[in-house]
Amino acid sequence: MAKRNIVIANWKMNPSTATEAGKWLLNIAKSIKRIKRTEVVICPPFLYLEKLKKVSRKIMLGAQNAYPGEVGPFTGEVSAEMLYNLGVKYVILGHSERRSPPAGGGETNEIVNKKIKSALLSGLVPVICIGEKERDEKHEYFNIVKTQVKECLKGVSKESISKVIIAYEPVWSISSTPSRRDATAADSLEMAVFIRKVLSDISSPQMASNTRILYGGSVTDRDAGEFLTNGGVDGLLVGRASIDPLKFLEIVKICEALKS
Ligand code: PGA
Repeated sequence: MAKRNIVIANWKMNPSTATEAGKWLLNIAKSIKRIKRTEVVICPPFLYLEKLKKVSRKIMLGAQNAYPGEVGPFTGEVSAEMLYNLGVKYVILGHSERRSPPAGGGETNEIVNKKIKSALLSGLVPVICIGEKERDEKHEYFNIVKTQVKECLKGVSKESISKVIIAYEPVWSISSTPSRRDATAADSLEMAVFIRKVLSDISSPQMASNTRILYGGSVTDRDAGEFLTNGGVDGLLVGRASIDPLKFLEIVKICEALKS
């Protein structure tokens, strides 16, 4: 089965009211009626999911995190099962903003691995964020990414590996990173090929070719086409540009026009 291209919006902690979130989603929903070949996913803050679920059937919803286990006495947490029962389909796991303290409490690959397993068990599709903090001349960053992929997917069945989504997000290019710099489509291509090789080694070439790999890191409507055409990826994970519905729509349209 051919993989569908996917554009995922990571709204992070935006917007500040449910009313505004509803308006954003409605704007997007109205304009994507003709979009057929691109899957559009919005990941809003948890507390808007219930409301947004009713706005559009065409737009899939994702969460930005989930607890690494079943429901229980865990203050402030939200389980994968609860999200699935609400109608959520995807969950972003291991985002760099959650891996680095203090905001995220320093999530490790081991914790991300538990979250991935729990999400899969509940029926959610994990969108697993990986990416090096910096690039060094000795190319140690390849080993960092390889370790992230292997540790995050440790014990995950080969079949499930073909179902997860890997989002390559070099931390140095993400909009929230101070003194960030732009990644190029060549950076994305090189890493997408490398990640697919690592996936192939831990599953099989067939499973690995079915896994969708995305690029994320300050993508805008200006460079989305370049990443999609020359970045070796099956879609994009968009943060800052996704909180401007017009920019986000433009990115979705670019993806729809380019990818076959
Ligand atoms: P950005 O965020 O597009 O704002 O860099 C991407 C992400 O952090 O997922």
